[in-house]
Amino acid sequence: MTDVNAYHVEPKKIDEEIEEVEIKEELAIQTVGLKKHFGRGYNLVKAVDGINLEVKEGEVHGYLGPNGAGKTTSMLMIAGTIRPTAGKGYIFGKPIGSPAANKQLGVAIANPKFWKTMSAYKYLVYMGQLHGLEKTLAKERAKEFLHILEMTQHGHRLPVAFSTGMKAKLAVAQALMHHPRLAILDESTAGLDPESRFKLVNTIKELADILGTSIFVSGHILTEIEKLVSRVTIIVKGKIGLQGITLREMRKEFSTGQFSLECSNPEQVMQDLFNMGVTSQIFMDHNNVIIFTSDFIDSVYAWLPEILKRNGAILQQFGPLEVTLEEVFINVISKRYGSDFLYEDKILEEFQDEQKGIFGRLTRRSK
Ligand SMILES: Nc1ncnc2c1ncn2[C@@H]1O[C@H](COP(=O)(O)OP(=O)(O)OP(=O)(O)O)[C@@H](O)[C@H]1O
Ligand SMILES: [Mg+2]
Repeated sequence: MTDVNAYHVEPKKIDEEIEEVEIKEELAIQTVGLKKHFGRGYNLVKAVDGINLEVKEGEVHGYLGPNGAGKTTSMLMIAGTIRPTAGKGYIFGKPIGSPAANKQLGVAIANPKFWKTMSAYKYLVYMGQLHGLEKTLAKERAKEFLHILEMTQHGHRLPVAFSTGMKAKLAVAQALMHHPRLAILDESTAGLDPESRFKLVNTIKELADILGTSIFVSGHILTEIEKLVSRVTIIVKGKIGLQGITLREMRKEFSTGQFSLECSNPEQVMQDLFNMGVTSQIFMDHNNVIIFTSDFIDSVYAWLPEILKRNGAILQQFGPLEVTLEEVFINVISKRYGSDFLYEDKILEEFQDEQKGIFGRLTRRSK
């Protein structure tokens, strides 16, 4: 008889595997198999399901993912606010949640809450003191940050009465008051109008540069994130979909090999390019930009001036078509979970609409 136990392999405990990992002190954030599960049985939610993150010192690292992907939960674990279910994490080599890690950290989590009786200025001073600053220095820094964020005239006001944009700025300021080595910013530009967002993104970037602070930032507005970050990690349903890739690597890896050409008289120019036989898959997009691939791009470069001249066309832009962060984001999510994942919410909405219809009829009948 076969001895079933002969095939039995004792499962290796997660913690044992993690013991073997080398702690890298040079990394601003390092997580190994970090997990957070909520609830049990049918209610089990694997909010963060074994993530290995690496955020380098001095970089602005974007943390992207759809709603409910696990961004805030991961950030709260790294910030030591909630305890991981399993796995480990380090901030400059110090275990997450330890005083040594927290000392190097500034945190701004989405939708900040403020005290009802403390002015914005006093709040910053107090937060600075909590982070270990002397009162005089905390006062100096509070004034400095209010000035940088163009909020000096609002310093005496109560932040509970602030607009979303002003609250967001104040949350970023308190996170940076003690000039931490690492700042974790969760959705810091969410709910802001485009102009305020643009300004805040630029200020964060400048501050990170001046203070030498590493920044781990989550967000939804990918065009803004693209301007802010040097590297991104994408999380989907609690798992890492794309780990720590630079925007340059990302463009290379996800490049479609397409070129774009913008000029006047695009129809004739496109026809000439097509007739030359050195392009393939040539078409014009809805913005009148000519898109094509080519195995003979040197010939295209060489002949383009003549083609433009012949058609009396003026060149506006020509070069490889750059993929946007948004395209990569959608690509990663669809590849991992199928393109339906992106539309699940929509399907649900449509379903609800249908239901509304049915109930609508029922209500009418019962009248
Ligand atoms: N305290 C909690 N109890 C139960 N489930 C939770 C709790 N906190 C978070 N979750 C669940 O964990 C998952 C991840 O949530 P999380 O807030 O981390 O996502 P997120 O990526 O920050 O989303 P968003 O973009 O909407 O902010 C979600 O399914 C959420 O419902
Ligand atoms: Mg969140």
